Amino acid sequence: MADEQSVENLVSETVKHFGGLDIIFNNAGVGVQTPTHELTAEEYKRVISVNQDGVFYGIKYALREMLKTGGGSIINTSSILGTVGEPTSIPYAASKGAVNLITKSVALEYADRNIRVNAVAPGFIESGLVNKEAMGEYYDGLVAKHPIGRLGEPKEIAHAVIFLAENDFVTGTTLLVDGGYTAK
Ligand SMILES: NC(=O)c1ccc[n+]([C@@H]2O[C@H](COP(=O)([O-])OP(=O)(O)OC[C@H]3O[C@@H](n4cnc5c(N)ncnc54)[C@H](O)[C@@H]3O)[C@@H](O)[C@H]2O)c1
Repeated sequence: MADEQSVENLVSETVKHFGGLDIIFNNAGVGVQTPTHELTAEEYKRVISVNQDGVFYGIKYALREMLKTGGGSIINTSSILGTVGEPTSIPYAASKGAVNLITKSVALEYADRNIRVNAVAPGFIESGLVNKEAMGEYYDGLVAKHPIGRLGEPKEIAHAVIFLAENDFVTGTTLLVDGGYTAK
């Protein structure tokens, strides 16, 4: 996703295989947890290049196909950290804040051509490295930040993505699926 040519190829291979592109889900993302005064420019740029530039490339090449076929649905993955701050994660927060406004701006630009653009913004979700075994006490602290009293499950994000893909009257929104994390 950080390489424009690869994303162009991904879209063209998809179209070749399936005959068109109705929905794209720009979900790839990476994080970093480094105190800002120790953060290198390389670390910073790496996160921005995947989470922010990658979303731009995915949108750009999906739009070209959707304009040919008369419409489509674009869904980007944001995060609660596009809405509220988090220590030691500035490139991540910057990239997710950018995803929210890229989503709104492209939604406005293409709404009259039947292309909808939305984002899903998860709270902390049980996955890969986010679990009690890997995180110990830090995990309990994370749970405490979600008023609903637990972390999310991957299927709860998938459900939101399907909703955004299917609902023809939703565009330009960032749907928070966060157990109340950002309601405080
Ligand atoms: N897990 C959470 O708690 C959480 C919370 C909020 C937002 N998110 C967001 O959800 C999305 C998915 O994250 P996840 O939790 O499933 O993480 P994950 O690490 O399990 O999955 C991320 C995926 O992105 C892929 N990826 C990384 N760099 C890539 C690149 N340059 N090109 C193509 N693919 C690349 C990885 O191979 C991996 O499959 C991310 O955008 C992340 O920021 C996750």
